[in-house]
Amino acid sequence: GSEATVVVTGGAGFIGSHTVELLLQRGYRVRVLDNFSTGHRHNLPNSENLEIFADDIRDHEALRTALRGATACLHLAAQVSVQCSIEAPAESATHNVVGLINVLDAAADQKVPRVVYASSAAVYGDPQQLPLTETAATVPISPYGLDKLVDEQYARLFMRLHPLSTMGLRYFNVYGPRQDPRSPYSGVISKFLDVVARGESPKIYGDGLQTRDFVYVQDIAAANVAALESRETGVLNVASGNAVDLLSVVDTLAALTGRPITPRHYPPRDGDIRDSRADITQLRTRLGMCPQWALADGLRQLLPQP
Ligand code: UD1
Repeated sequence: GSEATVVVTGGAGFIGSHTVELLLQRGYRVRVLDNFSTGHRHNLPNSENLEIFADDIRDHEALRTALRGATACLHLAAQVSVQCSIEAPAESATHNVVGLINVLDAAADQKVPRVVYASSAAVYGDPQQLPLTETAATVPISPYGLDKLVDEQYARLFMRLHPLSTMGLRYFNVYGPRQDPRSPYSGVISKFLDVVARGESPKIYGDGLQTRDFVYVQDIAAANVAALESRETGVLNVASGNAVDLLSVVDTLAALTGRPITPRHYPPRDGDIRDSRADITQLRTRLGMCPQWALADGLRQLLPQP
């Protein structure tokens, strides 16, 4: 829609910038609101349909201004480090909980009818049964996971109190270009690619047989746009639906680069879960979305192109 305007909080970050690109391609006007604490201007394209607000989601007035006249809001801005949330839980909650409340409040105030926000597989904690359906028990094992669970409850409450429709997307293990490998919250795939590019050995915490549901950032962007365009409410897993262990990730990288890669093993990381995999039936049926990126294709995009 050419006259539709979407506000993306955290739009200069990893997931945000890929989604902004897709929205612009689809003909939307986009307003990015980002405090640039971890986001970068260079993540974003130059476009006459893109406006940038260098503001913080904890600033009510800035949010109201950014949301004025918008059609929808995609709320991605957050303190995304699980480790930081354990070390500074109150600080995390000001970003992750109060930030979302501010977004919902400003959306209600400005009569923005649709809010899609980032939740996380972290709401499930240590899974008791796989694959995880949206009805599985939610027992977070970090302040970060609890922040996101509380976000889901605030979103549901705001739908009762205001004419507002919301959808929370429970992202699983997202990887792809622009995920900063040096940052403390970066995922294992970015770290592996970074060390392999420098000819070093990847670190594996534990035996390497732990599994994750890795989802390419382009699929996340597509799900975000589909959710913005949908009228479905509630929460939804966003994942590939496949579980892969770390040794297989290393093997795939070795096959793609044509060089042997020998990981170094370290003791398991504190608080790690063993296995994770999403049931993505609802992603398919409620958003009509089918993840397009196999792991090997995503990894190929991340390697230096020949
Ligand atoms: C991921 C999310 C996190 C979310 C959590 C719960 C990312 C970056 N983090 O954490 O936001 O709360 O799921 O669903 O997506 N590992 C290595 N070597 C490394 C780095 C990691 O062996 O260099 C191992 C870890 O010990 C872990 C696995 O790889 O067993 C995945 O780690 P990571 O990518 O950090 O993601 P999660 O811990 O699953």
